[in-house]
Amino acid sequence: MTTNWLVTGAAGMLGRDLLAVLDADPEAKVTALRRADLDITDPAAVRAAVEGQHVVVNCAAWTDVDGAESAEPAATAVNGTGVRNLAQACAETGALLLNVSTDYVLPGDAEQPYPEDAPTSPVNAYGRSKLAGEQAVAELLPQTGYTVRTAWLYGEYGANFVATMLKLAAQRDTLDVVDDQHGQPTWSRALAERLAVLGRAALAGRAPAGVYHGTASGRTTWFGLAREAYRLSGLDPERIRPTTSAAFARPAVRPAFSVLAHDRWAEAGLEPLAPWQDMLSEALRRPGFADLVPTSN
Ligand SMILES: NC(=O)c1ccc[n+]([C@@H]2O[C@H](COP(=O)([O-])OP(=O)(O)OC[C@H]3O[C@@H](n4cnc5c(N)ncnc54)[C@H](OP(=O)(O)O)[C@@H]3O)[C@@H](O)[C@H]2O)c1
Repeated sequence: MTTNWLVTGAAGMLGRDLLAVLDADPEAKVTALRRADLDITDPAAVRAAVEGQHVVVNCAAWTDVDGAESAEPAATAVNGTGVRNLAQACAETGALLLNVSTDYVLPGDAEQPYPEDAPTSPVNAYGRSKLAGEQAVAELLPQTGYTVRTAWLYGEYGANFVATMLKLAAQRDTLDVVDDQHGQPTWSRALAERLAVLGRAALAGRAPAGVYHGTASGRTTWFGLAREAYRLSGLDPERIRPTTSAAFARPAVRPAFSVLAHDRWAEAGLEPLAPWQDMLSEALRRPGFADLVPTSN
């Protein structure tokens, strides 16, 4: 049976990977809407776009974390009200909604991985805006709404930390990278595959609604990630040197501990995402990353 998928934010880093994943599914009929095609802050346009869809995956978001500090209402209009528009339309039409969220809804001061039901308490404006979206999904779609939190995303189709580190290898002998923030670097393609799997399981009635953690297994720091990216790319990892967050003051506070637990996947009979090193190794073999590595180092 054909499944109608709507992907919003389809030109973004995750959106493009999701389109590639769904393209390989012969049973998926995909409507891909970029921001120019559908602004999720427009409720009437959202309602029209959701009509006739079985699964809606929202990859649209205000993702400028630092910019949100001085423009919180604008960030909330997209990440909160925009998601509410999608949830309302899905409630009216019966479509499932998979909404991508963030570890930044959590306080980031724990020492053990956060379970899916850990109390939320964002430390910055972006996190508050994304929490408003999570709350809309939970409120309007208690049986058919899925919040998939991700973190530390990198992919072939967007600006990201891994690509920046590889590009800088041609320009700098050494790089100082923060070693006091802990997280789970996640390849957007691997997350896209999991979103497709979750959507299918949800349609089949096998996946309970609620919060899922769409991050890689294991944990590291930005320093650890940069070193592993260099090692896997044939660059000298010793060129990456550890530093502290205090040396890189930015407008938005970053959580120090962004490590998430993945138990909810088992409740849906699904595997969590792979260990971060395995997916990084696979990602770096793709042209979008391999082509960034300088030929001599
Ligand atoms: N990147 C990360 O490290 C990270 C970490 C945690 C969670 N996430 C979450 O993961 C999801 C995907 O992120 P990403 O990295 O793929 O972000 P991205 O590359 O910035 O893509 C987001 C897309 O949403 C579009 N958009 C913005 N406002 C919109 C609106 N009002 N209506 C429709 N589309 C709109 C953007 O268009 P324009 O470019 O034209 O504005 C962009 O194409 C987001 O929910 C994000 O919050 C990302």
